[in-house]
Amino acid sequence: MSAAEPVILLGAGGHAKVCIEVFRARGLFDPVACIDPYAKENNVLGVPVHRDEDSQRAFLDRGVKWGFVAIGQNSLRAKLGADLQISGFRLANAISPRACVSPSATLGRGILIMPGAVINAEADIGDHCIVNTNAVVEHDCRVGIACHVAPGSVLGGRVRLEDEVFVGTGASVTPNNVIGKGTVVGAAAAVISNIAAGVTVVGVPARPIIR
Ligand SMILES: CC(C)(COP(=O)(O)OP(=O)(O)OC[C@H]1O[C@@H](n2cnc3c(N)ncnc32)[C@H](O)[C@@H]1OP(=O)(O)O)[C@@H](O)C(=O)NCCC(=O)NCCS
Repeated sequence: MSAAEPVILLGAGGHAKVCIEVFRARGLFDPVACIDPYAKENNVLGVPVHRDEDSQRAFLDRGVKWGFVAIGQNSLRAKLGADLQISGFRLANAISPRACVSPSATLGRGILIMPGAVINAEADIGDHCIVNTNAVVEHDCRVGIACHVAPGSVLGGRVRLEDEVFVGTGASVTPNNVIGKGTVVGAAAAVISNIAAGVTVVGVPARPIIR
């Protein structure tokens, strides 16, 4: 019999798939359901899908204590994560056994850390964050709530991401820079200065997209 704690996932798309594999690889949590009213499939990697939003309550009533939001979109992940906690669930962390997390790093709740990710000394990762495959969060970084550091991207030492920042695939941020709330850094961009809140920047060096 498995000693893993049952956990429900909100979301049943591609992102849920990778979260399930990380939970299974780690072995601390056992995904027992994906809840998603818009799901296209009836199971995700063998985990049954429930479309009825009341099913959250039913799992709680059956003694499932742990929940996790498996949705890539930052603001929605933050909102649903907060809602799960209000409903009475504890937020699980999905941390790959193939990630390298410093013992001096601080980790929030409801986070996903994918294989190959590196989180270095005294970095701080906020609730609901994703540190994706092979991403690097260097020493003393402050990553706010519900950020996504996408595959292969690199945050240099002491970088600060305010809440809900998205750093695209293969982008990099040089040390000490601050990226404002909700900003999107495009794939492969190089951020070499502070960036304001609520903008999208692309290119090398990164500049705002002018629409
Ligand atoms: C930056 C980004 C969010 C912009 O998306 P968008 O708002 O839909 O913008 P558009 O695709 O309309 O592009 C607008 C302009 O920016 C340019 N642009 C878009 N992304 C760019 C990038 N990463 N680098 C350089 N230029 C880029 C486009 O060529 C276009 O230029 P033009 O106006 O001269 O034609 C998106 O292109 C991107 O890089 N997303 C990251 C995806 C990712 O890493 N996902 C990881 C999932 S795990």
